[in-house]
Amino acid sequence: MRPIFNRVLFLCLCLGASSVAAGDDVISQMEERVQACTPCHGLQGRGTNDPYFPRLAGKPAGYVFNQLTAFKAGRRKYPPMNYLLQFLPDAYLKQMAEYFAAQRPALPEFSLPEASAAVMARGENLVTAGDPDQGIPACSSCHGVDLTGQEPAIPGLLGLRAAYISAQLGGWRYGTRTSIAPDCMQVVAGHLTEEDVTAVAAWLSGQKAPSNPSPAPVGSYSLPLACGSQPEGVK
Ligand code: HEC
Ligand code: HEC
Repeated sequence: MRPIFNRVLFLCLCLGASSVAAGDDVISQMEERVQACTPCHGLQGRGTNDPYFPRLAGKPAGYVFNQLTAFKAGRRKYPPMNYLLQFLPDAYLKQMAEYFAAQRPALPEFSLPEASAAVMARGENLVTAGDPDQGIPACSSCHGVDLTGQEPAIPGLLGLRAAYISAQLGGWRYGTRTSIAPDCMQVVAGHLTEEDVTAVAAWLSGQKAPSNPSPAPVGSYSLPLACGSQPEGVK
């Protein structure tokens, strides 16, 4: 852990310096600015081999922005990111969110997860049909039939490793990850058992990339619960 923290400290100094040097010419400084993110999120936010370091590329800009403000405000906890974003203005975070949302590096090919056929079947069923008896809506009802998400703030679920997906669902179940209200995922994750989490994470992580990985346009399908919006005042 220690080398990572040292590296973050160093990156923070660089970020501070580039934000001062950037002045009005912020867009042209973007490649340089996001260098601080590359060791953990990969070039263009394509992800790295660390299963807990998520891909950022191609996620809806509103979703990415909501995550950056969540880390800044402590609604989402990961100390290196909380620290890195602490002093960055929202306008700067919004530009970084738009940069990552616009990137389209190929989705990584993952090896098939090691899960039994029964576990994979349970995962597929929860994602595509939900479990009305347990009060679980289909994940695809919000994340889309192609699981590529919807603008402005519902993320796609492909290109993420099982360990990351389980950790995020666990975060909602135990209250360490919260989102702006209405926090639909807190409701959904609250109805999942440990076995359900393992099953959806295994199934999702084994899906092939769709031909069009872009999030669906805003309002292109209606959601079972009203969520996935952006705070007032963010344009
Ligand atoms: C030291 C490694 C590290 C650095 C540097 C880092 N991140 Fe992260 N980032 C993470 C980890 C780990 C997570 C997942 C944390 C969790 O489990 O909630 C994360 C999560 C995120 C998320 C949420 C992704 C999602 O799908 O919900 C965004 C957005 C993000 N980072 C953006 C950035 C940006 C922009 C930078 C550069 C300014 C950056 N990160 C720098 C490690 C890092
Ligand atoms: C009612 C709508 C809704 C349903 C149903 C839903 N989600 Fe979500 N999900 C969201 C929203 C909105 C977000 C973004 C939350 C945020 O901003 O932090 C999200 C985020 C996520 C994330 C975080 C992705 C990342 O990159 O960190 C995961 C994982 C996830 N959902 C998995 C699931 C699974 C698995 C199911 C089905 C069991 C499901 N979701 C059902 C609305 C929904």
